[in-house]
Amino acid sequence: MAERNTYDNPTAASAHSRPPLSRQLTRRKAIGTMIADSRDSATGGLRRTFGVFQLTMISVGATLGTGILVILGEAVPVAGPAVWIAFILAGATALLSALSYAEMAGMVPVSGSSYSYSYATLGEGAAWVCGWCLVLEYAVSVAAVAVGAADYVNETLRIFGLELPPSLTTGPGADGGVINLSALIVVVLATLLLMRGAWESGVVNTIIVFVKIGILIFFCLVAFTAFRAGNFTPLLPMGAAGVSAAASSVFFSYIGFDAASTAGEEAKNPKRDLPRAIIASMLIVTTMYVLVAIAAIGARQWEWFGLESTTAPLVQIVHEITRSDVAVLLFAVSAVLAILSVVITVLYGQSRILLTMARDGMVPRVFGRVSLRTGTPLVGTLIVGVLVAITAAFIPLGELANATSIGTLFAFCLVNVAVICLKVRRPDLPRSFRVPFGPVLPALGSLACAFLMINLGGVTWAVFGLWMLVGAVIYLTYSRRHSRVGGLTEADYRTSIEA
Ligand code: ALA
Repeated sequence: MAERNTYDNPTAASAHSRPPLSRQLTRRKAIGTMIADSRDSATGGLRRTFGVFQLTMISVGATLGTGILVILGEAVPVAGPAVWIAFILAGATALLSALSYAEMAGMVPVSGSSYSYSYATLGEGAAWVCGWCLVLEYAVSVAAVAVGAADYVNETLRIFGLELPPSLTTGPGADGGVINLSALIVVVLATLLLMRGAWESGVVNTIIVFVKIGILIFFCLVAFTAFRAGNFTPLLPMGAAGVSAAASSVFFSYIGFDAASTAGEEAKNPKRDLPRAIIASMLIVTTMYVLVAIAAIGARQWEWFGLESTTAPLVQIVHEITRSDVAVLLFAVSAVLAILSVVITVLYGQSRILLTMARDGMVPRVFGRVSLRTGTPLVGTLIVGVLVAITAAFIPLGELANATSIGTLFAFCLVNVAVICLKVRRPDLPRSFRVPFGPVLPALGSLACAFLMINLGGVTWAVFGLWMLVGAVIYLTYSRRHSRVGGLTEADYRTSIEA
């Protein structure tokens, strides 16, 4: 009862019982409370509609997109023919973290992903940092992805002879741009679909995932007809440093595998299915990336990718080999759909993370309301969709887009640390999946994330620092005062840190 009152009026309750900052930053939320909160009728329950197959499709849907269609072309000049090794390095880093996500998702099957895992293990401060990094990973990255989708839309329209004026193809500031209309439409479409319901969005996403895996297999089949083993020598023209720099930049293509962990409250059997979905999606995606990278280099010498005219490398390779406008058109349309499914699933994930944070009072409660009609956070989805649409349509993303990788790597790092903490502190807790070899793999996962972060440029670090500073101000001025755990009594607090 006390908790319900606190939840109804968090500021009033916390004003009397708010502990010193150091204590507030380190207090933890009990896993049992998180699970109970997710069933709290005050916020309404999300509908459990997803099985392991659809959860896997959510993660693959959120992952396969701009990275392989666009960033591959930028990574080849950096790594040379060894770009496929860069994909393996980035994939190994992501896989180590995916194992940690799988263990945590099986134990804490709510919708907050690494934000919730950090809250349960490292405390409120780390949870806020993680949640704020997730906004970079989800909302900011999806705006960047929508801009990538817009490039493909514009390219496809050009094939039909329907060229948009420059004022409608890019945001203000470059080449006479006013608004990126295609990016805006892509985000609006995805938001409207998500507002219809999670199940409907899941079905559309699943269909699109099949289309995108289909076009990548089609690309491999076409590219392998022009395969030349000689294109792989010398393997490392830019040295090992080139490969590790490329690994940091292609890491973007693995962002999203954790999307299934934002569906914990909409999964029919989350403890069993979330770990399976996360690991299965990583294996599918890594296999596709390595195959596509090998096929692309086999078909064209690595220097070709550095030419100014190479803007959409996969489409161009298909065109040069098949000489078929129909194949190119199909490929371009499928690529747009592929990127649309990233937008759908990532917007989905962001709205669920904010829903969980709203329950804890970290962000305004409006993000936590679930519509009884659709069983989804309708208003939260709309707000996220509008903000992302405005960002994609009007703001040149530049370094902010690069910063999504650094934010994601930081969140992954925290999840690896969280797994080690729980292994030490609560080895007795039931786990539906355990990372093998005790703390060794999560420790390696953290180190690998740190290595890729170090490789990112100084400007990216500066943008990241600024982002975290803004996050700290929001925490101190809003979240700290509204934190629901902040309203707990001393006895409740002790229970929460002992849990
Ligand atoms: N991994 C996602 C993509 O490559 C963000 O589009």
